[in-house]
Amino acid sequence: MSLLEDPSVWAEEIARKIWEKERAVAMRNRNKIPYTAKDGVFDDLTERNICWWTNGFWAGLLWQMYGFQRDEVFRETAEGIEAKLDRNLMTAQGMDHDSGFRWLMTAAANYRMTGSKAARNRALLAASDLAGRWNLAGRFLRAWNDSGDGEKAGWAIIDCMMNLPLLYWASKELNDPRFAQIAVSHADTAARAFVREDGSVCHIVVFDPVTGERLYSLGGQGFGHGSAWTRGQSWALYGFALSYRHTKKAAYLETAEKVAAYVLSQIPESGIIPVDFCQPNDCTWEDDSAAAIAACGLIELQRMTGTTAYMDGAMRLLRALAGQRCNFSPEVDPLLERCSAAYHDTEHEFPIIYGDYFFSEAILKLCQKETFLW
Ligand code: GLY
Repeated sequence: MSLLEDPSVWAEEIARKIWEKERAVAMRNRNKIPYTAKDGVFDDLTERNICWWTNGFWAGLLWQMYGFQRDEVFRETAEGIEAKLDRNLMTAQGMDHDSGFRWLMTAAANYRMTGSKAARNRALLAASDLAGRWNLAGRFLRAWNDSGDGEKAGWAIIDCMMNLPLLYWASKELNDPRFAQIAVSHADTAARAFVREDGSVCHIVVFDPVTGERLYSLGGQGFGHGSAWTRGQSWALYGFALSYRHTKKAAYLETAEKVAAYVLSQIPESGIIPVDFCQPNDCTWEDDSAAAIAACGLIELQRMTGTTAYMDGAMRLLRALAGQRCNFSPEVDPLLERCSAAYHDTEHEFPIIYGDYFFSEAILKLCQKETFLW
């Protein structure tokens, strides 16, 4: 079998390049919490926005590297970020539906890897806060915050599927079904209220926060109402697969496969993913992070079902990213070059830390050497 044909041999070589790079990056960024980079140098959100939803991903990447091959610089840097996030944990208005992204990647990861009791405590506090966002009438976890005017009290978003694993984790850890019950009720609502007939998903669904009635959907970070924001498709694909992994509820696997079928049908020949599958033809903006997240979900589905089309799809995405969109140089901080936060933002195609995290996780999955942080 040639190198090109064997995903794990190919991935093992990429994983080694990532590890070498991230070791150098960690050595010179020991005190930062990066979101993006300018001229190859990470920025730092420690003072600028300690409550930003992406603040766990650099630590998550460091824990993945630590799991692949031990070097204490990874552990120490990740633990530093976790401690800094205590300021977020103590800011009620800075807590939101994305607690899973922040504390699964930091405290829960640390606890899994080292058994730290302080880390376990942080992750349990974050899980309790997330569970407190549950709307009993609508059976969903409320997204974002507002300034007390209740404007977003009925908002839910597809991204939240990726935060449910913090609740599954807390239930297991405490031997208490309440957290998982909330996660399941949210996942059931999301499967019903977000996923369209063709397998695409909407970003935002607005419910009446008092009666729980589904009112309407919004285009959110995608092109517009009724469109298919690619990162949202990826959150759904991977998120439902993870809910299946935690619960073994067949409906979640069916939903993940339905979304995966839609995503696979939309991947362009190039393997490079746009910001929205429904964006105008003359718009070339792409989002590498959407591709990396989808690849993680597809590999997970391949493991669950044995369907080779999922692995083929993941490989198309990962080969395109590795060959055309990754900077493996240890001299440059970010890895993926062209991520986009939202279609209607003024800036597109720049490094974003979660792109680096999910690309690395996908590559380690191919080698069967990822640490399961979800
Ligand atoms: N969770 C927000 C985003 O994907 O941009």
